[in-house]
Amino acid sequence: MRNKLLLGNWKMNMLPQAAANFVKSLKGMSDLARRNNIELGLAPTFVCLKDIRDIQIREGINVIISAQNCHYEDNGAFTGEISVPMLKAINIEWSIVGHSERRTYYNETNQTCNLKILKLLKNNMVPVYCVGETLTQFENNETSDIVKTQIIEGLKGVSKEEVANIVFAYEPIWSIGTGKNASKEIAENVCALIRSIINDLYGEVSEEVRILYGGSVKPENVKAYLTMPNIDGALIGGASLHLDSYRELLLKTIAED
Ligand code: PGA
Repeated sequence: MRNKLLLGNWKMNMLPQAAANFVKSLKGMSDLARRNNIELGLAPTFVCLKDIRDIQIREGINVIISAQNCHYEDNGAFTGEISVPMLKAINIEWSIVGHSERRTYYNETNQTCNLKILKLLKNNMVPVYCVGETLTQFENNETSDIVKTQIIEGLKGVSKEEVANIVFAYEPIWSIGTGKNASKEIAENVCALIRSIINDLYGEVSEEVRILYGGSVKPENVKAYLTMPNIDGALIGGASLHLDSYRELLLKTIAED
């Protein structure tokens, strides 16, 4: 069975003290999530990562702490970057790769994403690989081609044993931070497509791979996505920034209809 995952992406928000308080407040909630086979996660900024991971370990809070990005080299002249061994050294085991904001503002390509994915996997870490199309591509019916290329190029050199350790996230760019979430049918179709591409490349292991939807996920719509057969969770920006709405995301997910 694929456990559901609710992963909050805090982007460039939250000062260290507020971030620490947020995580400390999650104890009861994280136990509730675990009892319901749901994993919770947060991706804070680099400056908060170590503190938050330390708190999470010390207080036994069941929340995955993920980086938002990493570099594909171990070290070197890359001003402003953070490497995978650096993340490992502070016990971080997850990193988002290829978020559309990184692709758009920092020129990340499928090729650099591929190098990051390979580096993370080599270090036994979990990449959360984001794919998705722009509004124009969506309107021109190019979603399948774009996503297929992102997956094939991003997975170059990844073995069958490794692919199950990757979490995929379908995030249509037109739905991120816009309030215009993709319908659950659109999201399901693309997540099913991603699974079928992985199946073509690697076979049955595709059934073990988790695929998230992201883009204007809120407490009001999270359950609809998570009941779709190929959607295994959500990558959540805005609604993960406030404790109340983060808590509501979990409560709505586990609520009986
Ligand atoms: P949003 O962001 O939930 O604020 O739309 C999602 C994301 O960028 O991962």
